[in-house]
Amino acid sequence: RAKAILKEFEEKCATPDAKLKQVADAMTVEMHAGLASEGGSKLKMLISYVDNLPTGDEEEVFYALDLGGTNFRVLRVQLGGKSGGIIHQEFAEASIPPNLMVGSSEALFDYIAAELAKFVAAEEEKFHQPPGRQRELGFTFSFPIMQTSINSGTLIRWTKGFSIDDTVGKDVVAELEKAMHRQGVDMRVSALVNDTVGTLAGGRFSNKDVSIAVILGTGTNAAYVERAQAIPKWNGPLPKSGEMVINMEWGNFRSSHLPLTAYDHAMDTDSLNPGEQIFEKICSGMYLGEILRRVLLRMAEEAGIFGDEVPPKLKNSFILRTPEMSAVHHDTSSDLRVVGDKLKDILEISNTCLKTRRLVVELCNIVATRGARLAAAGVLGIVKKMGRDTPEESGQETIVVAMDGGLYEHYTEYRKCLENSLVGLLGEEMSTSIVFKHANDGSGIGAALLAASNSLYVEDRS
Ligand code: BG6
Ligand code: GLC
Repeated sequence: RAKAILKEFEEKCATPDAKLKQVADAMTVEMHAGLASEGGSKLKMLISYVDNLPTGDEEEVFYALDLGGTNFRVLRVQLGGKSGGIIHQEFAEASIPPNLMVGSSEALFDYIAAELAKFVAAEEEKFHQPPGRQRELGFTFSFPIMQTSINSGTLIRWTKGFSIDDTVGKDVVAELEKAMHRQGVDMRVSALVNDTVGTLAGGRFSNKDVSIAVILGTGTNAAYVERAQAIPKWNGPLPKSGEMVINMEWGNFRSSHLPLTAYDHAMDTDSLNPGEQIFEKICSGMYLGEILRRVLLRMAEEAGIFGDEVPPKLKNSFILRTPEMSAVHHDTSSDLRVVGDKLKDILEISNTCLKTRRLVVELCNIVATRGARLAAAGVLGIVKKMGRDTPEESGQETIVVAMDGGLYEHYTEYRKCLENSLVGLLGEEMSTSIVFKHANDGSGIGAALLAASNSLYVEDRS
């Protein structure tokens, strides 16, 4: 019986190249539709107001706040002016208390502002920095935002584990500034950016060939550099650079070509945001472990893989997290000891036999492979939209994709599968023209750099 469930699941999750190409094509089509008009597609294709990626010529100290990943971060970046690059950076990180993720807007922003206040006070004491001109901040806010300028924008909706009704529709910079005022922090928000946009900016700063950024972490999303003239819905002035960074919000991509299973549908129904973020729910870190749990639960109920009783812990949603799934998947010991230990520690299932452990590893492989291959198809969709998917069109230039997020960074099998799948889809001839580069913490640095290039005080040297 367990074998039958496994086989059925494997078939439903299959992602042969032909299917991935359909997914990539559908992504390209939706990109066009999202750029054509507001609401034209499930893909929001949000205008970031970043039309000039930072050069690093900026000077001075800038701060950044990074909210929306596993951890909340506060950064201080000291820029060295022309060719000085980043002289120094420091950061502090904390996790957001779960009750604040579903509480009130004021409580969340007060918490962030209080952490910022602590950090700034400690840093300024350390660097003996006299309070001079008003400090400036880049705010990485990793949720869909309808921007109205480089430093303002309203929240379209929450994603991932956040759900706070009273923030939706509000300008998150105004919310942050009010909270900073309440906490006695005197700072100006000079740039509001998505984590993908921050990663693109940070990545570009160290490598000029970076033109796409992808986050694979708790959630998933991508940003890329688009020609301003190819954005029909943009009715502002044509930027000098002729370019505009687009935050795709690809997590909300959906297509009939996506291989969805009954487990995915059930997880979606039970989620904080049913019907939304379907691509995210099959590719990203928040959900992979939960999909695995759901399959294991069915196997326990219908095939008794863990004995006569269904282990009670296995009924707890989100008890299996993706880092644990990754550890299980990477177990190379002959008796799959890590698998046994994890089942015992997390689910209180002891004495599992080797056959059961193998089955668990196989399930991890199916779930991770589907996610990674679909993420590769997403990247192919962007490369196609950029018209760079064939040797003639790609020219001599390489496209560097700046990558970040815990899933990409720590889940080696996922990362390898993603990279190999893209090579497979593009073909040998193109295999060296797209390069992935891990941009660690790039988004915070990118936000600080964008705060610098949009500073009120630093003169424009361009
Ligand atoms: C971090 C970036 O490295 O990765 C964040 O600084 C980003 O901006 C995060 O949101 C995403 O990864 P995760 O795994 O923390 O969700
Ligand atoms: C979610 C958010 C998106 C973010 C991504 C990665 O999809 O909606 O804005 O970029 O997670 O953190």
